[in-house]
Amino acid sequence: MISSRRHFLMGAAALSAAVATPEMVRAASAMNLALQSGAADWAIATADLEADLSPRPLRLIHGRAPTGLEGTLFRNGPGKFRRPGGSATHWFDGDGLMRAFDIVGGQASLRARFADTPKRRYETEIDAVVTLGFGTPGDARARIGSNDDANVANTAVMLAGDRIWALWEGGAPLAMNPKTLASEGFVTLRPDLKSMPFQAHPRFAPDGTIWNIGTNGDQMIVWHMAADGKLIEASVVALPRASYMHDFTATDRHLVIVLQPWVFDHAGMPFSSQFAWKPDLGTQVLVLDKADLLRTRLYELPSFSFFHLGDAWAEADGTIRFDVAAGKDVAFAVEGARVLVRQHGIVPGEPTQISLITLHPDGRADMVSSGVVGEFPKGDPRRAGLSRRLTVHTGGERSGRPLPTGLAVQDWSTGRSDAFSFGDSHVVEEMVFVPKPGSTAEGEAWLVGPSINLGSGVTELHVFDAAHVSDGPVATWAADVALPAGFHGAWKG
Ligand SMILES: [Fe+2]
Repeated sequence: MISSRRHFLMGAAALSAAVATPEMVRAASAMNLALQSGAADWAIATADLEADLSPRPLRLIHGRAPTGLEGTLFRNGPGKFRRPGGSATHWFDGDGLMRAFDIVGGQASLRARFADTPKRRYETEIDAVVTLGFGTPGDARARIGSNDDANVANTAVMLAGDRIWALWEGGAPLAMNPKTLASEGFVTLRPDLKSMPFQAHPRFAPDGTIWNIGTNGDQMIVWHMAADGKLIEASVVALPRASYMHDFTATDRHLVIVLQPWVFDHAGMPFSSQFAWKPDLGTQVLVLDKADLLRTRLYELPSFSFFHLGDAWAEADGTIRFDVAAGKDVAFAVEGARVLVRQHGIVPGEPTQISLITLHPDGRADMVSSGVVGEFPKGDPRRAGLSRRLTVHTGGERSGRPLPTGLAVQDWSTGRSDAFSFGDSHVVEEMVFVPKPGSTAEGEAWLVGPSINLGSGVTELHVFDAAHVSDGPVATWAADVALPAGFHGAWKG
């Protein structure tokens, strides 16, 4: 493990070697100037928030608050990209902003606070974004001693005991107080594993434990934790290829690692520039036995790209199934997410489609598309790792116009998609299942998530009945301010 840690942290050495040429600095300045004119109608989705948002009530503008819906939707995502001395140029590289939508006694309110990271502190001091990111090159002013000096803590949030953790993927989780959203420092799961990669999509097992991974090249660390975030075990596993990987999935008995043909090719900056899209390689799926990580099986699929998977399940005969928001290439990851921060222009490529992957006991694998455009797939948390039929996802993205405009629930048992569109006047964010009190069946739940109303220029919070999405929201509250679009959320009841 010790020698593996040294190998892992070679990634950090590459980070600290970041040096910008004058050409890069000039290009970044030109990009900032371009922001000032011709912004797209969706530009507010990647606007900068200049300060923490003090708690404020939301106004009920549609329907009524469902009885029994009590809790907080925590959501993370980038909240600030631009500074006078240099800016983040990719959607994944803005400063992490933790939002909390509280619903108590039928009333909703909103608060938001930036993750207080060493990166944000330093870049606030010099008023310039200078640190290497996923798609932002950074420059010689960056101060990087470990992975966590580049950590933006901006991608997702998980509940860990009485704390929430703001997650990134190249470094450690950042602990936050759920009541104040104050940052309490990076979490060291074990002293010799400080600052090791911890991805943004942990999987919750039916036994109450939590699994996650971190990757560096063709090595993967597997984290197994108790519900309170205490480490049970960490192991390093060799992967068959060094794919870029943002998410993994799991059944009750297996870890499922999807290796897209976007593979490490050469050292460089930004991080994403190191990978080459090689569709001829196809996509591989590595299945590991949770009880013995050395027991593995490898499946082959035609090439596709992805960021997000749904929870997986294993059937009695050994068949494993899971869903994926599958793309045809990495045009969005490389260039589309830069267009979003530029706030104007055409996002290249085609939107992803919600698809179902089946790994058969005889070693074959297949992927079937629902034909429905979608991203941010989420399942009912009561069925995580178990057989299930429902997936909620955002929808409505089109070639030429980025960002979702609606949501849908896909029923894999019938092939039916129950969809609702807000139209182009909303940017719709990830929705999460919130089980109804006293219910046990899959889908007896609300769907809770925000949108940005581009017409009124404010953030809204919506509640849908998961069984009747096409009926529209049962309740909508409006804020008096717009927050930039976030990535991922978690509900705390
Ligand atoms: Fe994600």
